[in-house]
Amino acid sequence: MIAGVLTETLPGERRVALTPAVLPALAKAGVTALMQAGAGRSAGYPDQAYTDKGAEIAASAADVVARADILLRVRLSPTSTSAGNVDLGLTRAGQAVVAFLDPLGEPALASALASRGITALSMELMPRITRAQSMDALSSMATIAGYKAVLLGASYLPRMFPMLTTAAGTIKPARVFIVGAGVAGLQAISTARRLGAIVEAYDVRAAAKEQVQSVGAKFVELPLDAGDSEDKGGYAKAQDESFYRRQREMMTKVVAGSDVVITTAAIPGKKSPVLVTAEMVSGMAPGSVIVDLAAERGGNCELTKADEVVDAHGVTILGPTNLPSTVPYHASQMYARNIQTFLLHLVKDGALHLDPADEITRETLVTRDGQVVHERVRALTA
Ligand SMILES: NC(=O)c1ccc[n+]([C@@H]2O[C@H](COP(=O)([O-])OP(=O)(O)OC[C@H]3O[C@@H](n4cnc5c(N)ncnc54)[C@H](O)[C@@H]3O)[C@@H](O)[C@H]2O)c1
Repeated sequence: MIAGVLTETLPGERRVALTPAVLPALAKAGVTALMQAGAGRSAGYPDQAYTDKGAEIAASAADVVARADILLRVRLSPTSTSAGNVDLGLTRAGQAVVAFLDPLGEPALASALASRGITALSMELMPRITRAQSMDALSSMATIAGYKAVLLGASYLPRMFPMLTTAAGTIKPARVFIVGAGVAGLQAISTARRLGAIVEAYDVRAAAKEQVQSVGAKFVELPLDAGDSEDKGGYAKAQDESFYRRQREMMTKVVAGSDVVITTAAIPGKKSPVLVTAEMVSGMAPGSVIVDLAAERGGNCELTKADEVVDAHGVTILGPTNLPSTVPYHASQMYARNIQTFLLHLVKDGALHLDPADEITRETLVTRDGQVVHERVRALTA
């Protein structure tokens, strides 16, 4: 079986779907990698590193598409742009594709893949079960985003993070507030702590309190009743607007007292709740920074503009939508490992074996035999 890897096409995307380190395990299962020349270069993996581990290099993307049984990608571009989807042209009927496809946000792409006769598997839909933990690329990428968000916040902040006692006086430690203590939030806490900041965090899920404390932050107690805030997949459920209004009121003081606020509160498949209003921003000291990791789905801060730097009377608001791509070496290493485990799960006797009775296959399989087969995605395409 030939697994083809293309240079990613989305502007600014530097990750690559396979790294040399995972090739021997794939080869053992009968999967040979066919890399487009230069596919790993922007992530720090030269062609030679792949050939040293048994990969073949193809001169062009078209060569890879013509020969691969399965294409491994980081992301497919959306169909909703005026330019249309460049990645659809980089597929061949009968081929399988594994990638971040955003099928809940971009159901039109799923329909287009189905009509092209592509078997598509979505990394976003990986079930949150113990068995699939090592295939969970959303968590891997959230780890990177949480880490980088802190570095970004620190570099925009006109202050230092650690407390320092020097001959030139004492420097007070920075105060960092993390809203949403999932995978990204917990990694942000750890990173900010390592840099010496005083860190506080809040999450609607009751289980988050202990996790926040275990990585050295103070859990901000907001006397809010989030009720049964967690769905069976471990994700936060959406709350009603009156809940968010009370949450904003209670968070106002903490936000005002923070030098850096990092928001990570996302609700899968839904617009992100606004948790920091323009008025709350105006209560922050000039020079403070907000890093909004929910920017892709509208943002947790009312003033966030995706991938822009907003200056609101001296407060900097950042809404980066692809931080993992700014740490491409390790992001690719983690993604490739997730892909490796997933493929080894799906491949039997050198061929893709898609068994709908298997939860991992059923949950991630979006299109097959010309149809959108995933129930939730199909409901969106109807
Ligand atoms: N395989 C597995 O078992 C597995 C894999 C990954 C994550 N998880 C768990 O799932 C949970 C969610 O993780 P995630 O990082 O994917 O979450 P996510 O990216 O969906 O959301 C980020 C965080 O924001 C929080 N949030 C939502 N609304 C909020 C609000 N109004 N105020 C404050 N916080 C709010 C969520 O509770 C979550 O912790 C975590 O407990 C994580 O450990 C389990």
